Amino acid sequence: MIQMSLAEVAEAVGGRLTPDAVGTVAGKVTVDSRAVAPGDLFVAVPGERVDGHDFLAAAADAGAVAALATRPDGALPCVVVDEPVAALGRLAAAVHTRLAGAGGARGHRLVTVGITGSSGKTSTKDLLGQVLATAGATVSPPGSYNNDIGLPLTVLDADEDTRFLLLEMGSRGRGHIARLCRVARPDVGVVLNVGSAHLGEFGSADEIAVAKGELVEALPAGGTAVLNADDPRVIGMAPRTRARVVPTGRSAAADVRAEDVALDEAGRAGFTLVAGGARAAVRLQVVGEHQVANALSAAAAALAAGMAPDAVAAALSAAVPRSRWRMEVTRRDDGVTVVNDAYNANPESMRAALAALAGLPARRRVAVLGAMAELGPGAADEHERLGRDAVAAGVDLVVAVGPDAVGIADGALAAGAREDGDADGGADRRAVRVPDRAAARELLTEVLVPGDVVLVKASRSYGLEVLAADLLAAGAGA
Ligand SMILES: Nc1ncnc2c1ncn2[C@@H]1O[C@H](COP(=O)(O)OP(=O)(O)O)[C@@H](O)[C@H]1O
Ligand SMILES: [Mg+2]
Repeated sequence: MIQMSLAEVAEAVGGRLTPDAVGTVAGKVTVDSRAVAPGDLFVAVPGERVDGHDFLAAAADAGAVAALATRPDGALPCVVVDEPVAALGRLAAAVHTRLAGAGGARGHRLVTVGITGSSGKTSTKDLLGQVLATAGATVSPPGSYNNDIGLPLTVLDADEDTRFLLLEMGSRGRGHIARLCRVARPDVGVVLNVGSAHLGEFGSADEIAVAKGELVEALPAGGTAVLNADDPRVIGMAPRTRARVVPTGRSAAADVRAEDVALDEAGRAGFTLVAGGARAAVRLQVVGEHQVANALSAAAAALAAGMAPDAVAAALSAAVPRSRWRMEVTRRDDGVTVVNDAYNANPESMRAALAALAGLPARRRVAVLGAMAELGPGAADEHERLGRDAVAAGVDLVVAVGPDAVGIADGALAAGAREDGDADGGADRRAVRVPDRAAARELLTEVLVPGDVVLVKASRSYGLEVLAADLLAAGAGA
């Protein structure tokens, strides 16, 4: 973070300094005592399993100058606050205000981009991060740092040299994104889609749209709202913002759009990026047609940040997958291909992954699917529908993993897949249920043959990335 004295930190967060708290934060801000380096500020977060306050001594040993904490214990100088997470947000807000302020110390103004949506936030953030980095110093969070802790930590990674600050914004209810925008108000706001992620908590898709739209409501008059014109609930947010609206998508009505979309033999999309009068060829390195929408949103944000269309197209074409367990396509030595998309799942992302699987050349397509969490009352129907859609998408073998995923197999069977017969048998569509990952691994070890492509996907809590790793290990040196 930018250098700040502990007195300045205390003032920014409204905290009280312990008598030994003198000095300056010269390093970074972190909530993980194991990541502390000399000069850092350690934030003692009271978590569900561990309480950061138990690690004040460890942070001191690692060289922390001080902690943001509720209960000082003498091990480390402290800025004492009631709620360390809220204080972290206030610290980030103070730093952001300073960096976004007129001119900036290096003669440029920081451009902050916020990204939200039900699916594709991290994928879009990773694309845009790589695009903006070609134009100037960019801070973009690792993985999915999109909540009240991850977002301020990302803001605090920025300093006077930073040109572009990229923020992923997650939401599980009304007010969440508004709160994140109070930490760091974006100049450019991107809304990707409104789907059914966390539908159980929200209640309805319209309610999700209300919550996601808080991003465009927070934008200033001089800002830009990048809205997906192919999603009615997203383009419907246009009246909620003072900012200039840039519609993106496949339709002619979109200002930043993709024409001539085609997938290559590895399932990667190429298209012509059309923006204003400019046209430029893009060939994505990331897999799946759903990445076209993400790339268009990233392109519109980069154009709003001042980049030229040619430069945007070139940088998009060079961007590689950054975050793990999202459409990681790996071919085993024995010729079986594993597609690890196990980071998370909801109905829309499942469908995107099935479409991507359909786009890959294969002798046989296998979808190893676990359940989708947090869908609320519609969950049973959604799992059934997914099973049907898997068969419709041309999946030859559906493997439903775990008791919560049984409905997926039921749906596949209802759509004409068969339960019996050889799993590795001919052209018949098949669907099987297995109780857990171990059983899935056993079955797959038996049935996979060269030329098969296996998609592995479920909600985060089911941990199917372990199965994907097992499948890759099983094929190593085969
Ligand atoms: N634009 C999109 N539309 C639908 N599904 C998508 C889209 N982008 C990504 N996905 C799917 O969602 C999964 C999660 O993607 P990710 O970028 O991590 O989203 P988020 O950060 O919003 O959770 C991916 O593995 C992919 O299957
Ligand atoms: Mg994410």
